[in-house]
Amino acid sequence: MSKTIIISNRLPVQLQISDGGLSAIPSVGGLATGMKSVHSGGESLWIGWSGLTDEEIPESLENEIDKALENHGCSKVRLTENDVEGFYFGFSNRTIWPLFHYFLEYSEFELDFWNTYKVVNQKFADAILEQAGDEDIIWVHDYQLMLVPQMVKEKRPNTSIGFFLHIPFPSYEIFRTLPWREEVLQGLLGSDLIGFHTYDYERHFLSSVRRLLGLDVSFNDIYLDNRVIKVDSFPMGIDYKKFRDAAVAHEERKENNKSDLQQKLDNHKASAPDTKLILSIDRLDYSKGIAKRLNAFEYFLNKYPEYKEKVRLIILAVPSRSNVPQYQLLKREIDELVGRINGELSTVNWTPIWYFYRSLPFENLIDLYTSSDIAWLTPLRDGMNLVAKEYVATRTDKTGVLILSEMAGSAYEMNEALLINPNNFEQQADTLKNAITMPKEEQMARNMFLQKRLERYNVEVWANEFMNALHKKSDVEDVNI
Ligand code: UDP
Ligand code: G6P
Repeated sequence: MSKTIIISNRLPVQLQISDGGLSAIPSVGGLATGMKSVHSGGESLWIGWSGLTDEEIPESLENEIDKALENHGCSKVRLTENDVEGFYFGFSNRTIWPLFHYFLEYSEFELDFWNTYKVVNQKFADAILEQAGDEDIIWVHDYQLMLVPQMVKEKRPNTSIGFFLHIPFPSYEIFRTLPWREEVLQGLLGSDLIGFHTYDYERHFLSSVRRLLGLDVSFNDIYLDNRVIKVDSFPMGIDYKKFRDAAVAHEERKENNKSDLQQKLDNHKASAPDTKLILSIDRLDYSKGIAKRLNAFEYFLNKYPEYKEKVRLIILAVPSRSNVPQYQLLKREIDELVGRINGELSTVNWTPIWYFYRSLPFENLIDLYTSSDIAWLTPLRDGMNLVAKEYVATRTDKTGVLILSEMAGSAYEMNEALLINPNNFEQQADTLKNAITMPKEEQMARNMFLQKRLERYNVEVWANEFMNALHKKSDVEDVNI
C-alpha cells in the first residue's frame, strides 16, 4: 500500500535548543496549521526543515532531534546557515513572496539567492528520493519548493507528484519580470497535478505557461512531451470541528479554568459593556495591510467620533521573517503608528488599540475569537487567509461580524462577510459603523451560511479532493493520507 509524503519548508513544529534542552513549538501560518490536521489524521510522512541550522545542532543532539521529529511523523532536511540565508530569507522571502503578492518594488533579483534556492530545492528533492518508495505519492507545498517537482520527476518518472501553492500566483505581467521565470515554471511542471486556492491564480499560471513556454494548454490541461499536467483550484478549508469544539469547550469552562487572557477580556467587558471589540490576527507581514488598517481605524474614529470610547481594536501581530529588512521596517512603522494613534486619541478611560507582538497558544486564539464582536482582516493580497474562516467557525451562537478584504482568497467563498477594498478608507469607516450597528438577526443569518460552507468544505475535504484528483490522474490504488 502506498503512503503520502508531504513536503514543505515548514514542518508542523519548529525545534529550538535552549538551556532547558530541545523543545518543539507549533509553527505559525496557514500551511502548517491546515496541513497539521490532515497529517495527524493519517499515515503520511512529513519532510521539511526543523527550524535549526546544521551549525546550531550539536552532534550529541542529532538522535534526539530525529526522535522528536519522528514523534510528530516528520523527518528533517538538513540546511546550513548559508542555505537558510539565501534560500529562505533570500529567494523565497525577498524575491518570490513580494513578487507573488504584487509588491514588485520589494522584489530583489539576486543571482546568489537564486543559486542557493536551486541547491536547497535539490536537498529537499534528495530527501524525498531517499525516503519515498516507488508507489508513494508525493505532495509538495508552496513557493519555497517550486523546483522540487521536476527534480523528483527526472529521477522517478512514474511517481505521482502533486504541488499546491498556498500564496497567490500573480498575473503574467508581474510574473514575467522574474529573471528565472521559465525555470520556475518548468520546475512546477514536474508535477502531475498543480493546485491553487482560486480560479484566478490558476488562470494566471496557465497564461504564463502558454505565453512563456509556448506549451499547448487546453482548458486546465497542459501538454508537455508525452505528459498531461492537470491544473485546478482547491480552496483550502479549516479544521472546522477543532475550532468549533474548542469554542464549545471554552463556553463550558468554569470561572477558575479560564486563561489569564480570558479573565482580562471578561474584566474589560464587565467594566465597559457597551464597548465593541474589533479583532485582527496576522503574521506581521506587509501583505496583510496592518499599517493601512491602523490608518483606516484612525480615519473611522475621526469620521464617527461618537464611537470614541465605544470600540477597541485588538491587533495580534505574530513575529515573522524578522531577518528580512522589509519586515524590520514594517515592525518599526507599526510600533510608531500604534504609539501615535494611542497617544493622540486615548482618554483616561480608554486606549483605542491593544497591540500584541507575539504568537499565542491555540487556547488564547480561541479566547480572542470568541470574545470579539468583529473580526477585521484587511490584507492587500493574501493567498487564502484562514484566520477569517477560524473566526467564523468559533462563533457558536452565530453572532459576530467578519469584515474581510476582497484581496484575500477566502473572500471568494465568504460572500456573506462584509467585503471591503483595504485601500478605501471611506468604505472601511462606513463598513465598521455598519458592523457595529448590525442587528443580531442579520449577523446570525450571515454566519449561518458561512458556517455551513466551512463545515462542508473543511480541510479534510480539501485534502481529499486534491488527492482524489491526483489519484485519478495516476490511477494509483489505495492512497493513504
Ligand atoms: N496562528 C497561530 N498562532 C498565532 C496566530 C495565528 O498559529 O499566534 C495561526 C492562525 O490560527 C492561522 C494561521 O496562523 O491558522 C495564519 O494563517 P493565514 O492563512 O491567516 O495566514 P498566513 O500566516 O498563512 O499568511
Ligand atoms: C504562509 C506561507 C507558508 C509559510 C507561512 C509562515 O502561510 O504560505 O509557506 O510557512 O506563511 O511563514 P514562514 O516564513 O514562517 O514559514
